[in-house]
Amino acid sequence: MPMHSGFHHSGRHFLQIPGPTNVPDRVLRAIDQPTIDHRGPEFARLGREVLDGMQQVFRTRHPVIIYPASGTGAWEAALVNTLSPGDRVLMYETGHFATLWQRMAGRLGLDVEFLPGDWRRGADPAQIEARLAEDRQHAVKAVCVVHNETSTGAVTRVSEIRDAIDRVAHPALLMADTISSLASIDYRMDEWGVDVTVGGSQKGLMLPPGLSFNAVSDKALRAAKSARLPRSYWNWEEMLAANATGFFPYTPATNLLYGLREALHMLEEEGLDQVFARHARLAEATRRAVRGWGLEVLCVNPVEYSNSLTAILLPEGQDADRVRGVVLDRFDMSLGTGLGKLQGKVFRVGHLGHFNELTLAGTLCGVEMGLSLAGVPIRRQGVQAALDFLSSEQQWTAHEAAVLLSA
Ligand SMILES: Cc1ncc(COP(=O)(O)O)c(C=O)c1O
Repeated sequence: MPMHSGFHHSGRHFLQIPGPTNVPDRVLRAIDQPTIDHRGPEFARLGREVLDGMQQVFRTRHPVIIYPASGTGAWEAALVNTLSPGDRVLMYETGHFATLWQRMAGRLGLDVEFLPGDWRRGADPAQIEARLAEDRQHAVKAVCVVHNETSTGAVTRVSEIRDAIDRVAHPALLMADTISSLASIDYRMDEWGVDVTVGGSQKGLMLPPGLSFNAVSDKALRAAKSARLPRSYWNWEEMLAANATGFFPYTPATNLLYGLREALHMLEEEGLDQVFARHARLAEATRRAVRGWGLEVLCVNPVEYSNSLTAILLPEGQDADRVRGVVLDRFDMSLGTGLGKLQGKVFRVGHLGHFNELTLAGTLCGVEMGLSLAGVPIRRQGVQAALDFLSSEQQWTAHEAAVLLSA
């Protein structure tokens, strides 16, 4: 008699949610090493190596802080280190994650102004500029945006938000959440003048969940000196003091740091620009598939299309969660659910991290079959459209992808 009667799917599960993403075997093997003394010399070398490596990924020469926490912890760290009770922060409703960050800011005692959005595009630089232009007293202390809104697949043009802030010479800090864009969509912390960047391990970095990051500018560090929100676990000062020699003020997630070191090697071997170009190519193929099916990409602004995920809008009356259920039962593939007010209306395809042409082809085949089986009226031309694009000469280079994003 078998001890358990669970149904077994043969072959690899397709984890095509927009994070956590598939963890490469190389990273899994790296994690699978004996845990070492986190106060010994071997750990110090590991600590410095991953802290330095993360600066390359954020494209910053400023310090990066690594927390043994999910992304939500790094959101909190960004706010409590820089702000004081009652400070005004300007946020933009790009979708579910912007809404959660906004709710957290309110709970922490900040005075949040939440510019409304329709969950189909990135944060609007013109609206932010207009709001800051009115704020002659400089009551707004920080502008917080989500670079890649994981619930909608729309990117905020962070460099344009910087330009908007500068045009009205407003002194607010700029904070960006790159949890689902880091190491998959072009992001340049220093060039774009971002003061705090929030990141997470479980998406473009190809690691399991459990690590999150703050990258902090000089201006953010100065703000931290006078900020009065209570902070202890998240305190940058103690972290930075210990990090100087490669250590942490409390027990770090040692084995995840082995994984991070390996993931950084993989990103370096491929080259960050090539990583971005690969994501741009696979995302474009996905969007061609969506149009081939006769369905709609949720994001309505082509210069804000996400290269790490695509949210697909179903026709009125169709249940996106039923499609996801069919795909999971029949083809052992997990797709992202519609979050918040998008529940049942969209499903999301993650195409980020450890991912290539053939994994995309398998993913799209599963989606096309699942849509048909669930009775959604589609043209069965999506997979073909994607394959035609992927096998054509007309593939995007990193340069073209960057031009598109900055257009
Ligand atoms: C853009 C974004 N911000 C924040 C979070 C929250 O991160 P976590 O679930 O790791 O706490 C997520 C999670 O998916 C996210 O996609």
